[in-house]
Amino acid sequence: MLLNRFERALMNNPVRAAVQRGFEAHRMEQLGGALPGPRVLEMGCGRGVGIDILLDRFGAQSVDAFDLDPEMVLMARRRQAGRSRRVRVWTGDATAIDAADDSYDAVFDFGIIHHIPDWRSALREVHRVLRPGGRFYAEEVLVAFIEHPVARRLFDHPTSERFDRQQFAAAVEVAGFSLVGSRAMGAWFAWFVAEKRDVSSEEV
Ligand SMILES: C[S@@+](CC[C@H](N)C(=O)[O-])C[C@H]1O[C@@H](n2cnc3c(N)ncnc32)[C@H](O)[C@@H]1O
Repeated sequence: MLLNRFERALMNNPVRAAVQRGFEAHRMEQLGGALPGPRVLEMGCGRGVGIDILLDRFGAQSVDAFDLDPEMVLMARRRQAGRSRRVRVWTGDATAIDAADDSYDAVFDFGIIHHIPDWRSALREVHRVLRPGGRFYAEEVLVAFIEHPVARRLFDHPTSERFDRQQFAAAVEVAGFSLVGSRAMGAWFAWFVAEKRDVSSEEV
């Protein structure tokens, strides 16, 4: 689901970039540690600040990134124009990721899955495109925030079947991951890191 004008303004400004850099990325690092490999995908990349974080802070060698909104994609491409050999950005949907199975060592979600009506299918797609042992780093907005009367007036979010921290963690496990860690900020926001289970190494 695309952002409304209010949320678009909230996302596309230097304060948001500073929070993403200084706070959200730090939380993901605390929970998940270093990248398990150099090939990284960011879903819902917005204007591309997350790509900077993945290259400069997490040390990714290459970042593929997509967003449902073509205007966000244009902004991200402009932002990353100087790094076109390491970065590829396209318009796409997290419920049908345009990438082969097992393509990435890590997938990042900076606050997009709560925008997706069928969010469980996005989790299945993340699982498909990660290699076994690859890691999923997610920062998410929970149902208590989405259903808050003020938030309902300000934002356009899908409202049916949203998730709390436990429901998201359970769905991640059902999709085929093992949860590495999760941390909440009140009932509104939570961070998760999960690893794609390597079924080939499991005993039968
Ligand atoms: C809250 S914004 C976050 C943007 C950016 N990740 C950030 O942290 O600044 C959510 C983003 O997800 C995108 N989005 C929503 N649904 C999507 C989907 N199904 N597939 C890919 N991107 C989606 C929106 O266009 C928007 O750019």
